[in-house]
Amino acid sequence: MSRIVFLNGSFLPPEEAKVPIMDRGFLFADGVYEGVGVLDGRLIDNEAHLERLERSLREIRIDNPYSRNEWTRLEQELVRRNGMTEGFVYLQVTRGVAERDFFFPQEGKPTVMMFTQTKSIANAPAAKNGISVITVPDQRWERRDIKSIALLAQVLAKQAAKEAGAQEAWMVENGYVTEGGSSSGFIVTKAGSIVVRPLSHAILPGITRQSLLRLSKEDGVTLEERLFTVEEAYGAAEAFLTSASNFVVPIVSIDGRPIGDGKPGPITRRLQELYLQMAREPAIAAE
Ligand code: PDD
Repeated sequence: MSRIVFLNGSFLPPEEAKVPIMDRGFLFADGVYEGVGVLDGRLIDNEAHLERLERSLREIRIDNPYSRNEWTRLEQELVRRNGMTEGFVYLQVTRGVAERDFFFPQEGKPTVMMFTQTKSIANAPAAKNGISVITVPDQRWERRDIKSIALLAQVLAKQAAKEAGAQEAWMVENGYVTEGGSSSGFIVTKAGSIVVRPLSHAILPGITRQSLLRLSKEDGVTLEERLFTVEEAYGAAEAFLTSASNFVVPIVSIDGRPIGDGKPGPITRRLQELYLQMAREPAIAAE
């Protein structure tokens, strides 16, 4: 099945989906995005992703081009046209095309683009075997709660991880872990509680994080929403990350130091299971 993408109201083959060079996304990274996981052909936590998209757009003062129902129908149509059962839907809205000028254009329409990426999530090797992370300084701006398309700091952080033989970078500010380059970061203490950084402008409010915290509470796991240092992470019993494109992934080493016994831990395994159950439950996972 050949790939179909969405651009400004049309479903097109990728080579026909063209954006002018004066698009403010291209010139200024003046736009926001979302990414929604797909399992068994269904959009996971889609309502929460669309709510975060609304918020990101409001924060940068771009009018939301579609209602939640319209977005959902378009996403579902794109998934259907690509015959995708497992993977990721990427949505992007920029401030549109205008002569290069920092001020917002007087008139102009947002550029709206979506594409799908087929990938295995539930049975991916990373989910089974765990991954390694390295720590790097957090070099981003101060509004990381907005899902901005300006991702240069994350590109550099993740490339550094790859070159060090790791799969993710944990970004660090004032000695405390903020989050992963494209994921939320968690540790599990030796006493078995989950530690996660509280929401603020310093991190993206992860949608998978939010669902995972709800599931852990329901499961009776103790939660500590507080900052944690790199040193504390080195000594943790377990560590893991969450994201829409990978769900729950065990972390088995940080900066070359094995976490726990260097294998995915039992609490991480349990949370992976709970998340997959939730994602496969049609009544809960947003259609
Ligand atoms: N990244 N933190 C950052 C900086 C992220 O970029 C992401 C997601 C997350 C996890 O959020 P969520 O659970 O809502 O996906 C946390 C996406 C997947 C990406 O850029 O590909």
